[in-house]
Amino acid sequence: MRRGERIILWAVAAVLAAGLARALMLESGARDKEIPFYSAAPPETARAAMDLYRKYRCKDCHSLYTLRDMLQAVPAPMLDGIGSLRSRDWLFAYLSSPDPQQILPSRLKPQYRMPSFAALPVDERNLLADYLASLKVKDWYLQETRRLEHEKLTGEATLPASQPGSDK
Ligand code: HEC
Repeated sequence: MRRGERIILWAVAAVLAAGLARALMLESGARDKEIPFYSAAPPETARAAMDLYRKYRCKDCHSLYTLRDMLQAVPAPMLDGIGSLRSRDWLFAYLSSPDPQQILPSRLKPQYRMPSFAALPVDERNLLADYLASLKVKDWYLQETRRLEHEKLTGEATLPASQPGSDK
C-alpha cells in the first residue's frame, strides 16, 4: 500500500470513529431528556381517575404532566411521581382525612391549602388513591422529585439529611 493510500484510509477511519462517538453522545443526551414520570395504571383506571381529577378541580392547584394547567396559581406540590414518594394507603388516608393538614402541615393561606375530600364516595377516593399510587418516577429522577416536593411543602430548596415520617 502506498503512503498516500494509507493516509486516506486513516482519514476515513477517523471520520467513522468521530461519527460513532457522536452517535453515542446523542444517545445518552436523549436519555437525559427522557420524561421520567409515568403511570402504571391500566387505561380504564387512568381515564376514570382523570374524570374525577377534573371534576374535583385537583388541576386548579396541582400540576400533572399528563394534564398541564397553565392558569394554576397555587404553589401546590406536583403530583407527577407521587406514587414513588407516598404509599397507596397514605394517599387514601390523606384524601379521606377531614383535616389533611393534620397529616401534612401547610405553610399556605387557608384558601390555598389541600381541601378535605373526606365527603367523596369511598369508591371515588379509592380510585383516586389507586391512580395517584400508580404515578411513578424513574429512579434517576427520584431524588430531584423528592427535592421539588420538599421545596413546595416547606419553601426550603434543599432536602434535610434525613426526612423522618415523610416517606412511605
Ligand atoms: C385549593 C387547592 C387544592 C386542591 C383543589 C387540591 N389540592 Fe391537593 N394539595 C394542595 C396543597 C397546597 C397541598 C400541600 C399541603 C397543603 O399545603 O395543604 C396538597 C397536597 C396534596 C397531596 C400530597 C402531596 C405530597 O407532596 O405529599 C396529594 C396526594 C394531593 N394534594 C392530591 C389532591 C387531589 C387528588 C385533589 C383532587 C381530588 C387535590 N389534591 C385537590 C392543594 C390543593
